[in-house]
Amino acid sequence: MNLKEEINRLRKEKNAVILAHYYQEGDIQDLADFVGDSLALAQWASRCTADILVMCGVHFMGETAKILCPDKKVLVPDLTAGCSLADSCPADRFADFVKAHPGHTVISYVNTSAAVKALTDVVVTSTNARQIVESFPQETPIIFGPDRNLGSYINAVTGRQMLLWDGACHVHEQFSVEKIVELKAAHPDAEVLAHPECKGAVLKLADVVGSTAALLKHAVKSPCRRFIVATEAGILHEMRKQCPDKEFIPAPPNAGICACNECNFMRLNTMEKLYACLRDESPAIEVDPDIAARAVKPIERMLDISRKLGL
Ligand code: 13P
Ligand code: SF4
Repeated sequence: MNLKEEINRLRKEKNAVILAHYYQEGDIQDLADFVGDSLALAQWASRCTADILVMCGVHFMGETAKILCPDKKVLVPDLTAGCSLADSCPADRFADFVKAHPGHTVISYVNTSAAVKALTDVVVTSTNARQIVESFPQETPIIFGPDRNLGSYINAVTGRQMLLWDGACHVHEQFSVEKIVELKAAHPDAEVLAHPECKGAVLKLADVVGSTAALLKHAVKSPCRRFIVATEAGILHEMRKQCPDKEFIPAPPNAGICACNECNFMRLNTMEKLYACLRDESPAIEVDPDIAARAVKPIERMLDISRKLGL
């Protein structure tokens, strides 16, 4: 069977759209109706007019799409595609943390469960986190969760002292400072591009810190010909596609030769599972209606602020 042809036939027949995050395998990105970062995927989902939305990403991305379009069928090819960062913030413990710090505005990264979003005042992604934090007066007490690296980075660039939840992504925490320093020495002309989920020591070595979409945009417009990229390796596919004459070197993880710069959760989605989920219209994301009713407010607030900011 030609998987690509079958997927194309099914998506037409069923009026389905396929959205993919930059961390998906190349074949899935190439086939998707839209490829983007977490913010762009949520924005796209909020405007979706198709009957079925297939989210080729991880569970929280499917959940966010389902919360934004409750009447649509939202499918994720592998429902077990979780996220270590979202898992580092269980809703019951986060609720205790919020309760222990009354009077704080709660800002949560989109990499969280719907139950954590339901405890949140405004959701952010790596594209808009800084601007959304800055939209609150400097003295506003803020709880920021769950990513301690993104939170520390925003504290540093905004001069704030947000209270941070102690969570992290296992992929972005793995990049080796020593190996990036060695790569920089071997390629002094290269720019280092890093995602803000990386540790502070890696971000200090970076020429540009930004979301996957921001790093891609920079790579396209920069006169530089060579880049060391410290984020999940899936983004290299689109970077190489858009800049065929530039060189992209994946930043190495601490562990050496293993593929630790690939997110094992993101890579659970495959072309075979994408085909099967379109054929069976399953597995579908369901969100508890009470949780969804509370979680939609901070997500829509984020979309609203982003629109006003032109993001
Ligand atoms: P962005 O899509 O905002 O760049 O975030 C990356 C990420 O870790 C998604 O899980
Ligand atoms: Fe979660 Fe990290 Fe995978 Fe992104 S790369 S989905 S933050 S585990």
